[in-house]
Amino acid sequence: MNRIEIIQGDITKQAVDAIVNAANCSLLGGGGVDGAIHRAAGPELLAECRTLHGCETGKAKITGGYLLPAKHVIHTPGPVWHGGGYGEEELLRSCYVSCLELAAENGCRTVDFPSISTGIYRFPLEKASRIAIAAIAEELKKHPELERVRMVCFDERTKACYDRALAESGAQG
Ligand code: APR
Repeated sequence: MNRIEIIQGDITKQAVDAIVNAANCSLLGGGGVDGAIHRAAGPELLAECRTLHGCETGKAKITGGYLLPAKHVIHTPGPVWHGGGYGEEELLRSCYVSCLELAAENGCRTVDFPSISTGIYRFPLEKASRIAIAAIAEELKKHPELERVRMVCFDERTKACYDRALAESGAQG
């Protein structure tokens, strides 16, 4: 049974235990998927985020889902790509690990991710997809209680990349 899936879609529409938000360190909203999630969740999401006092890159914090079909939102600031010499790869891996650890701690069994850092933060998509799939596969081995993790890709190109990364990894999760 494959516990990692790649789909194309809008993460704000997914009725899962937790969706992950590619946030910034303020946790006070932004553009991209961050903006879409806040718009769909409504103002109470921002109100709860204000109580969290930000989040370090690579770490994660959890809130309610409010008007979203998802029960929770797990917010993680990904690294901005500065050419690869500033620990960006390890920070990106840490985003996926931190989110799944937090999901497991909170009893979330189904978790959907966007492609963290590959938009406004300009992390190269191919490299990011391999890091993401490897980190997810590793965490699924550690946490049998996690039932399914999906990458929810917003466009064809991103989905093709994650499909390839999953196929190459041979990970069944
Ligand atoms: N559903 C799924 N994926 C989406 C959605 C959506 N509704 N909207 C955008 N995406 C995708 C983008 O196409 C991209 O593949 O999410 C991926 C991440 O892109 P960004 O949202 O730009 O996130 P990131 O590159 O991590 O930059 C984070 O952008 O929005 C600000 O506040 C945020 O400062 C932070 C920065």
